Amino acid sequence: MSALGAPLRRLEGTAKVTGAARYSFEHTPDGCVYAWPVQSTAAMSRIIAIDVDAVLAMPGVVDVITADDAERLEDADDGELMVLQSSNVAYRGQVVALVVAESLETAREAATRLRVDYQTGDVDAVLEPGHPKLYAPDEVNAGFPTDTSVGDIDQALAQAHAVVDHTYSTPAQFNSPMEPHATVATWSDGRLDVFESSQGSSSTVQILSTLFGIPAADITVDSQHVGGGFGAKGSPRPNVVLAVMAARRVGRPVKLAYTRQMMFALAGYRTPTFSRIRLAAGEDGRLLGLAHDAISQTSTIEEFTEQTAESSRHMYAAPHRSTSHRVAALDVPTPRWMRAPGEMPGMFALESAIDELAHEMGIDPVELRVLNEPASDPESGKDFSSRHLVDCLRRGAAAFGWEGRDPAPGVRRDGRWLVGTGVASALYPAMVMPSSARVTARRDGDYLVEINAADIGTGARTVLAQVTADRLGVDVDRVDIRIGVSSLPQASIAGGSAGTASWGWAVSKASLALVDRLKDEAVPDDGLSAEADTADDIEAMADVDRHAYGAHFAEVRVDLDSGEIAVSRMLGVFAAGRILNSRTARSQFIGGMTMGVSGALHEHGVMDAVHGDYANHDLATYHVAACADVPDIRVEWLDEHDDQLNPVGGKGIGEIGNVGAAAAVANAVWHATGVRVRDLPIQPDALVRHLPMRG
Ligand code: MOS
Repeated sequence: MSALGAPLRRLEGTAKVTGAARYSFEHTPDGCVYAWPVQSTAAMSRIIAIDVDAVLAMPGVVDVITADDAERLEDADDGELMVLQSSNVAYRGQVVALVVAESLETAREAATRLRVDYQTGDVDAVLEPGHPKLYAPDEVNAGFPTDTSVGDIDQALAQAHAVVDHTYSTPAQFNSPMEPHATVATWSDGRLDVFESSQGSSSTVQILSTLFGIPAADITVDSQHVGGGFGAKGSPRPNVVLAVMAARRVGRPVKLAYTRQMMFALAGYRTPTFSRIRLAAGEDGRLLGLAHDAISQTSTIEEFTEQTAESSRHMYAAPHRSTSHRVAALDVPTPRWMRAPGEMPGMFALESAIDELAHEMGIDPVELRVLNEPASDPESGKDFSSRHLVDCLRRGAAAFGWEGRDPAPGVRRDGRWLVGTGVASALYPAMVMPSSARVTARRDGDYLVEINAADIGTGARTVLAQVTADRLGVDVDRVDIRIGVSSLPQASIAGGSAGTASWGWAVSKASLALVDRLKDEAVPDDGLSAEADTADDIEAMADVDRHAYGAHFAEVRVDLDSGEIAVSRMLGVFAAGRILNSRTARSQFIGGMTMGVSGALHEHGVMDAVHGDYANHDLATYHVAACADVPDIRVEWLDEHDDQLNPVGGKGIGEIGNVGAAAAVANAVWHATGVRVRDLPIQPDALVRHLPMRG
């Protein structure tokens, strides 16, 4: 079966469940030693002394590396990777030393015993609106402009029939993939071989090449199996730099894995955000003005500015518009990408505000969105490659049973439960990044496709084999696929929901080139290959606006006595171009929506303002939605054809499921209770004192 769209099972599924698939840390080269990072127990501070000798005297300890004697790294344009280069400490949890020992247990014990003395300073770790350190960066993440302005927002607000003006917040959230970051690094004869849990080893090679000053050709990074990432493995993190540094220094292979606790400081996380949303509507419900002013935090060693307001630039028609981003560099770990960076917090804010406006104007929230649907991109004026948001809303409303919904909040009861429903829209950019691939016809009639794509659990390996089989016109079981090693043809990261589009294009192009060659060439003993690169094709793409869209519907129940919130059912309808494997796609959408429920109700990094650290840095105290929290989640998609994307026709599905899902839940909580909670996560304490007595 090779048909695109078919629900093929993951090709590596059996290998994974039988343990045959090897994750990075499961590689144990001969003679290897173990490294354990020592994390700062003080925030913003300076190291005065480290008692290295006491730990070096312990049996089994091989080395202790500190900023006093670590090798100097070249700047790879990421302050977080400049590990052990300075005795200044930027945040609590930053790596201040690395212990290397013959066993994992010894390394851990020695790291615990290493005495580090700090000179501490005043800690400034709490982001708030109006924080004096907020400033306008030159640009925000993914290269988007910091501020935009169209028309005159103040005039629109002054002339509006109805105005919504509220601030919404999202907390620090932590990427919590099943597999923590892990590296196994081996130097031999000047060559560097690395097993690394990474969303993109081609870019890891480039960064290691810069940091360590060796040619990229002398580095191989292997990431064949990766246990999730959500963005935290989209760029190298300190673990790989530390392991490579240690391996070079001790002259033996080094294994290093983060503990779950280390993930909270050293993996990157979603910054807390505040979004002030202002909506100005005319009497008919059409928006005259839309403003989104966002703030977020970064660390003092790397500027990372979440593009929180970017999604508001594309969602609704309104002649007067304004967006801004401000960031504060605080004494905190460096934030990084987490599934739908920008869109997740930004759309929680915007889609909550739209719900508030709908109530204020007495317009159904689905209809208000339809009413404000733009004909072209509202800020740039560009044509949409395709936009079926209204179809998602309409189809979702019908399937969910939205019709006849009583708009009044807090009036439906089912025994001890208040019941409500909510809706929110989703969008995510449909991107594509240059990649290359090679497809080989073998003498035995089978085919080999090679591309340094990364399968972080998504099913990428399987989908790319399907694309190849489709283009070659053969069954998928005649296609061997090799991915996840940097020696394969270069490819983009598994990020920005752009993996399948980017790699699929390269694989498709190489396959078609091979079909051409096979027309008049025989297959020699060592096979016949064709390679392709998509850089020029992408350069030549038309300048249109490309996004995927979706609509979330949620039903929640709130316990009258305790304020407990349970999501009883959810439906997501998506328009994401061509769906290439219905099984793995459904899993991606459900995963994104689950993460939305998790963000709406549970995930909450709690900053300890005194010590400058997220106090709940483990999975016992930082709750991620578990099976019992996840309701009946249904997913549908439109059969969308968009010929302005890429030859495989998909828009990307990894992130859009997470966008807007939290807003749909929040809007349902409001509809159930009449209590509008503008700060995530929504927890019982925000509701319980406002709830009526059970009678
Ligand atoms: Mo994803 S946050 O684009 O790796």
